[in-house]
Parts: sequence; C-alpha cells; structure tokens
Amino acid sequence: MEPKDVRREKLLALLAEQGGLTEASARQAQSQLGVPEAEAWGTGSFYSLINGPAPVTRVCRGLSCRLAGSERVLAELRANGTAAEGVSCLGQCDRAPALLDTDLSVRSRETRQRSVTPDDPELPMNLAGADRADYAALARARTLGSEDVIARIEESGLQGRGGAGFPAHFKWSSVRQQSETQRYLVCNADEGEPGTFKDREVMLRRPHLLLEGLAIAADCIGATDIIVYIRGEFKAERTSLAGAIAQAGDALRDFSFHLHTGHGAYICGEETALLESLEGRRGMPRLKPPFPTERGFRGKPTLIQNVETIACVPAIVARGGDWFKHKGCSEPGTKLYCASGHVGAPGVYELPLGVTLDELVEVAGGYEGTPMAFSPGGASSGFLPMSERTRALDFRSLAEVGSMLGSGGVVVLNDSVNLAEAVAWQLEFFRDESCGQCAPCRIGTQYVLQRTKGFLASGDADELDTVEDVAWEMEEGSICGLGMQAAKPLTSAMEHFPAAFRKASEG
Ligand SMILES: Cc1cc2nc3c(=O)[nH]c(=O)nc-3n(C[C@H](O)[C@H](O)[C@H](O)COP(=O)(O)O)c2cc1C
Ligand code: SF4
Repeated sequence: MEPKDVRREKLLALLAEQGGLTEASARQAQSQLGVPEAEAWGTGSFYSLINGPAPVTRVCRGLSCRLAGSERVLAELRANGTAAEGVSCLGQCDRAPALLDTDLSVRSRETRQRSVTPDDPELPMNLAGADRADYAALARARTLGSEDVIARIEESGLQGRGGAGFPAHFKWSSVRQQSETQRYLVCNADEGEPGTFKDREVMLRRPHLLLEGLAIAADCIGATDIIVYIRGEFKAERTSLAGAIAQAGDALRDFSFHLHTGHGAYICGEETALLESLEGRRGMPRLKPPFPTERGFRGKPTLIQNVETIACVPAIVARGGDWFKHKGCSEPGTKLYCASGHVGAPGVYELPLGVTLDELVEVAGGYEGTPMAFSPGGASSGFLPMSERTRALDFRSLAEVGSMLGSGGVVVLNDSVNLAEAVAWQLEFFRDESCGQCAPCRIGTQYVLQRTKGFLASGDADELDTVEDVAWEMEEGSICGLGMQAAKPLTSAMEHFPAAFRKASEG
C-alpha cells in the first residue's frame, strides 16, 4: 500500500472527480485514501471549484472585468434564472467581461481576437511563432553540461517572472548543491493575479517551448519528476500541454510529467501554499526558511519556477546569456506584459523589460478615453497616477515608488472610473482570497474593505483615519506577500489621488 502522505495527495482530485465535496465523497476519501471525513471537509471547503456539489456559471470580478461591466452581466444572468456567482478572477482580462461555464469553458461578450506580439524570431518567447518540437535547445544544453547552462542563466540576468523577480540561477544552483538526490521541479502555472494572463498564452501557443525549458531545468538540477501546477480554470491550457507531451514522445522520455490541476484558490500561486496543495492540504503558506530549494515537495529539494521564467530558458541556452540580457531596456531580457482595462487592444505583448506605460499602451492599441490611473503589476501593486506613465515598468523602478512589477499585469483606468470604488473591488479580492492563517491579514483585509465601503457610502474621510496604521500591521505581521500587500490598493490611491478621498464637504 502507498504511504499515507502519498495517498493524501489524491484527496482533492478524488473530491473533484466525485463532483465536489459532499457527504458521499468525503466518506469515499476516508474509505479509499484513509483521510478522515472531517479532514476531507476541512480541506475541500478551502477550494472554490470543489467546495460544493452544484456547479454554477462563474462571472469574473477581477478589476478589468469590473471595468467592462461584469456586475451587470452577473445581475442579468441571475434575473434570467441562471445559477451564477461572482468569482475573484478568471485570468481572462483581455476578454472582459469573462464568464466560466459549468463545464469550465470560457465565454465572453468580447469578440475581438486575442492579441499578442506579431511573429518575430528575435523575441526569446515569440508567442506568435511556430512552436517547433525539435528540442534542439535541450540537445544543446546536454552538450554544454549543467554548469555551463547555469552560467548562461546567470549571465542572462533572468529574474523570476512570477512576481518576486528573484534571480533564477541562484535557485537552480541551490537545488543542485543539496545532498539529497531525490529532487523535484515544479512549474507554477497557477496564474491567479488579477490583470495577469500571460502564462495562459505560453501554454496555449508555445507548449513545446515550455516543456523544453522544463526539461533543461530538470536536467540541470538532477530531477526527473516535473510537476506543472495548472490553475483549475485553465482547461484548454492543460489540454494543450498534455497534447504536446504526447507529441514530444521520445524527446522527453527521461522525464515524468505530472499535470496537476488546481481547484480554485488564488493563494495556491504562492509557492509554499502550492506545495501544501500538491500534498493534499489547504493551500496555506509555510513559514520560510526552510526554502523550497532545501525542503519543498515531500520535504525534498524543489525548484519552483513560473511558466514565463522557464519559457525564457530555451532561447538563453540556444543564443546565449548575453544575447538575452541585451533584449531589455532597463533590466535584462524581454517581458510578457499583459495590457487590459481601458486600452484599445488588450493582450499579451513581449517587449523589452523596462518599457514605459506609454510605450506598452502604444503597442496595445492606445488609451481608451482619458487615462487617469494604472495598476502596473496586478492587484498587489496598487494604483499609480499618470505622472508615472514614463517610468520604466521593471522590478527596480516600480519598487522605488512603492509599487511593483509583479507578474506584469498592467491595467489602465480612464477618468470615467470612481477610483475609491475600484480600490474597494481590489480590497474585496484580497478579503476573499486571504487563506485566514494569520490575524493581521485575516482581520486587516476585512477591516480596510469595511472602512473603504464606509467612505463610499458616507463620503466621510474620517472613515479612513486608521487605515494607514492597520496597513502597517498587515505589512509587518503577515506570513506571506498577500497580507503584506493587501492594503496597497487603498494606501497607494490615498497617496497619489488624495482628492478622491477627501471629505465630501471639502469638495
Ligand atoms: C499571494 C501570492 C500569489 C502568487 N501567485 C503566483 C502565481 O500565480 N504564479 C507564479 O508563478 N507565482 C506566484 N507567486 C510567486 C511565487 O510564490 C514564487 O515566487 C514563484 O512561483 C517563483 O517562480 P519565479 O522565480 O520563476 O517567479 C505568488 C506569490 C504570492 C505571495
Ligand atoms: S498573509 Fe494572508 S494569505 Fe498569507 S498566510 Fe497570512 S492569512 Fe494566509
């Protein structure tokens, strides 16, 4: 019989196969996997895609979908008698307002083609290019050897594209140096940050590029098991990867690929929450250290890397670190920027890392209306004023103004938007997605939302008197980045747009 911990890893898949969390499926978890019924309830109820038996149509409430009228769509559906609920984000900001049907297929009232940068072989990821399955870069990497490949990654200056911008070569070297020889490679394809939908396009358009990058990384760190954690709503993306693995055949024979489906929890994008989820538990972030490179999946050294980070690897191996590095303007390489909100052609654009907002939006069809604010890197990055439109959209420059590039989900808001209301939408996201593990985040996310709603209802700025202090407590006292950044939409908006938060009597 399999060890208890390994059986537990199957819990969430079992609940999903049984149509969600019910008395019957929880009983089955106990009889089949030895997971006590109470634990099956405790774990399953954490995940929005399986926490009940009755699937409903899900309407996206991410910032871009709200800007495109998703609340109206939700109300219309309900008025027509459709069982529908609002959800945090579906990763379809370029098709706003987006809906997810009960069979997990995406619908939208947006009929335009999805935009990406036109085919250009000089782009490292080149989303519109042919996705060849020749695995030439993998062969090249094997000729070079692991040390040389890691040296190329270091020379390229590749920084993690999942949000933190951590240099990739450090993590590769760290896993390689561990004495434990059972190691894992985990690809983070959970892509849940509102405003971000780039990993989706990599998986749909260039699955072989991703698989090749994963194979190179696995060889370098001495892993044969490669786990891709794909967000549950990404059904087509999973199919695309599965098809590519089958097509690659012998080229990938040295590796075992495991496509793991998420079950609807934004926090599982955080790397240690992701590991908890893989191990069949609630996605609650772990304390670090130890870091996953030392003790990750099943307690073994694990390299966790974002889809886009890995998709940069084949070109770095094939064309050199220096070539990649010089593709950037202010920082190394190209970046897949996601543009949505009030722009003419929402989409994923591969541009030099460090372009400005104006440069990005020029490629993305221009501004719609008069731009007022933008969110440069997902909900956690807050809001910036248009006076920052010529600032480099990179890791360092955005940090200088208290914001962040995050995963590159850029959302533009024009002057038709009530900014305080947009702030409340973002705060609602964090309130709903907090895992509840630590008090500053669990209570703080509720509190700052209540105060903002109080202000919206009364126009009384006194409602917001205490939010700076609470935001500080959240930043200092939270275990993970969600709680640390969750008040950012409000504090950044108050800093850069004071007029939007004045007492009504002050005009
Ligand atoms: C709340 C939260 C959510 C995150 N969501 C994602 C995500 O959806 N995808 C991702 O790749 N990284 C996400 N991250 C970052 C991961 O924890 C981790 O840094 C990343 O997967 C490492 O890969 P990289 O170095 O290639 O960026 C998130 C972090 C936090 C704090
Ligand atoms: S900060 Fe929030 S999301 Fe992160 S561990 Fe604490 S409660 Fe969970």
